[in-house]
Amino acid sequence: MNSPVMRGLNLQVPSYVKNARLIAWVSDMVALCKPDQVYWCDGSKEEYDRLCQQLVDAGTFKKLNPAKRPGSFLANSDPSDVARVEDRTFICSKKKEDAGPTNNWVDPKEMRATLQPLFDGCMRGRTMYVVPFSMGPLGSNIAHIGVELSDSAYVAVNMRLMTRMGKAVYDVLGVNGEFVPCLHTVGAPLQPGEKDQTSWPCNKTKYIVHYPETREIWSYGSGYGGNALLGKKCFALRIASTMGREQGWLAEHMLILGVTNPQGKKYHVAAAFPSACGKTNFAMLIPPKGFEGWKVTTIGDDIAWIKPGPQGRLYAINPEAGYFGVAPGTNYKTNPNCMDSLKKDVIYTNVALTDDGDVWWEGMDGEPPAHAIDWQGKDWTPKLAKETGAKAAHPNARFTVAAANNPALDPAWDDPAGVPIDAFIFGGRRSTTVPLVTEANDWVEGVYMAATMGSETTAAIIGQQGVVRRDPFAMLPFTGYNMSDYFQHWLNLGKKLEASGAKLPKIFTTNWFRKDASGKFVWPGYGENMRVLAWMIDRIEGRVTGERHPFGISPSYQELNWEGLPFTLEQFRQVTDIDLPAWEKELQLHHELFQQLEQGLPAELKATKAQIEKRLAA
Ligand code: OXD
Ligand code: MN
Repeated sequence: MNSPVMRGLNLQVPSYVKNARLIAWVSDMVALCKPDQVYWCDGSKEEYDRLCQQLVDAGTFKKLNPAKRPGSFLANSDPSDVARVEDRTFICSKKKEDAGPTNNWVDPKEMRATLQPLFDGCMRGRTMYVVPFSMGPLGSNIAHIGVELSDSAYVAVNMRLMTRMGKAVYDVLGVNGEFVPCLHTVGAPLQPGEKDQTSWPCNKTKYIVHYPETREIWSYGSGYGGNALLGKKCFALRIASTMGREQGWLAEHMLILGVTNPQGKKYHVAAAFPSACGKTNFAMLIPPKGFEGWKVTTIGDDIAWIKPGPQGRLYAINPEAGYFGVAPGTNYKTNPNCMDSLKKDVIYTNVALTDDGDVWWEGMDGEPPAHAIDWQGKDWTPKLAKETGAKAAHPNARFTVAAANNPALDPAWDDPAGVPIDAFIFGGRRSTTVPLVTEANDWVEGVYMAATMGSETTAAIIGQQGVVRRDPFAMLPFTGYNMSDYFQHWLNLGKKLEASGAKLPKIFTTNWFRKDASGKFVWPGYGENMRVLAWMIDRIEGRVTGERHPFGISPSYQELNWEGLPFTLEQFRQVTDIDLPAWEKELQLHHELFQQLEQGLPAELKATKAQIEKRLAA
């Protein structure tokens, strides 16, 4: 066998790598980062097993009890490296106004000058892994290729689960195919002979940097999730959104699901929710009692790339090949398909380890274990939790699992053509104000609703939790360019498709999270969201009229199928009532958002706001 392990700086390129730009870039980055060795990943199972074993030997992975979780591992991160770092994420476009007011911007020249010394020698004493990956089915005309260089074996193995990673990517790349270069380091070089003092090397200084014009990603100092698995948020959203704007397509923070009715008619829905607001649960939903014969299947749980196809219909692919989901709160009630996906071949990060070598997190089914080792390696007991509030799992603890593990995986999930989209859903997490479901009157009003969406923050990002922030299209941390231009891009696409005679997907907003006076969620959520989904399909088919209100159309109580769910008219009102004074305040917040985004804000959105205000006052 041609050993792919290279020692020293002598770059031995495997014979199947023929892309001149790639070879030149790797060799430049080797010269800059100065790793001890370079390893070209081939994506094989043998390689995955070998790297996992290496991580076990290094103490980064614990192998879980094979009788409980075969093929699975647990990693505990450094306590300072547990989530995406939005305040350290930068869009370095040439002009500040192209990044817009919602992104951190630094002049690219200045940023390169800052990063150069940080990356110089950053991989000393470590291996540089060359990780080739396709975002989307290999060779699909919606897919794109990236190559990540990382000094973290944890990243390499996670990328194998999260993307189509390996040798076959080089065939698609050929001699002069395009790829997005993604450079990642944990920022913890080792002196000669020095051994890691920690199983999760990282650096207090962090930079997650995007150069949209040259389509490059440079990530420094973190080994965690979206900071380090660069195919996900950095490429598939921030860089891809700028590519989509130039090329006439959409890169969105959306799940994609298929829903088939008892007559066998299938619809496809793409739904945007902010991080940790139940996208994975919705994408894997099991229809409840009263929906016998219905089926929901998963195409994707986090990101959608959407392109106009035949007859101006929008076709979506899932650029990813796995799920990096939030573990706490996942159980057989909230997401049975997910629990079944997690039985084997999973990488867990920051969940608790039980005494019998299994994993546990807050909200898992059954009794908590009498004792566990928490995500920071300390003893944990239910008593301690009661006394001190100590969490066994970090609230942003994650699982990484291949999509192939999902029992509800849609047969078309890997179809290079993608699936045609019938509806878009935008959902925020709001305790008050926003009704369970609203259909926009038209595309422009739908864009308005998505643009002004607010949501309470969660543990997926560093910072205060539970505060309402505007999160346009659930893309606040992920749009790689000026947010107002992004709204305009959506409006332009709608206009273009409509002009071509295409029927546009309907646009809905949802809010599963309204609370009653005692602070309890009123809507049961999870599988019961099927009732709302079925109403949307009835609207698509023109079978129900809904009720008009100042913001759009919502269902009457009678229009939802309540079979199997005792949910009274009174409860229904609690999740659908429109509180006019609250909406006046809400519109004031829209106003503040629009002031922030003033530069380039589409006139149609201002006009829509004025219309809604008029309807509200009537
Ligand atoms: C994610 C996120 O990890 O949105 O998907 O934070
Ligand atoms: Mn996400």
